[in-house]
Amino acid sequence: MQLIFATNNQHKLQELRQIAGGGLDIVGLADIGCSQEIPETGTTLRDNALQKARFVHDRYGCACFADDTGLEVDALGGAPGVYSARWAAMELGLDHPDSERNVSLMLERMEGAASRTARFRTAIALITADGAEHVVEGVVEGEIATERHGEGGFGYDPIFVPSGWSKTFAEASAEEKNAVSHRGRATRALADLMRGLGLI
Ligand code: IMP
Repeated sequence: MQLIFATNNQHKLQELRQIAGGGLDIVGLADIGCSQEIPETGTTLRDNALQKARFVHDRYGCACFADDTGLEVDALGGAPGVYSARWAAMELGLDHPDSERNVSLMLERMEGAASRTARFRTAIALITADGAEHVVEGVVEGEIATERHGEGGFGYDPIFVPSGWSKTFAEASAEEKNAVSHRGRATRALADLMRGLGLI
């Protein structure tokens, strides 16, 4: 079955295809000729995922899903959460989201923090061809490291150590990360949901 993933991020598309395995033919926005910027104005991961999936479903009328991820840091009251991508840009008044500055800012804000517990959370919204809406989630608990480690992955990976691990996501292989990650878990929940709905 073909499913549109409402993303232009090739890295995510690749990761999702790897996690989902062969049962799903996942195509991205570029594959269907959609180059529009999809608004993301919600205040929760769930709202943003639904907003993006509805945008695509409204225009193309076929089954699609969208995701939204945030890093929730307990010592920061759950920030940056839904604003994870643009956190440093918002806090420091930068013009563009900047992954490196996000990591630097996190290390700075967490200096001397009594608790370093955090979690990545991913919400995936699925809208089936008939318009029915579903949302699944995936969470991975962990801690914010005191310095960067590793070259792999992206975003906050160099400073996120999953619970029970002694290395960061950036030091892990794609397979190791996918086995426990927020997106890995949310994607498997999506596959379970689709099996339950008889879609795959
Ligand atoms: P998105 O909703 O997947 O685009 O994620 C929002 C932001 O969360 C990204 O820009 C990254 O900063 C961060 N993020 C999401 N997933 C990951 C991950 O697997 N590792 C590290 N950072 C991530």
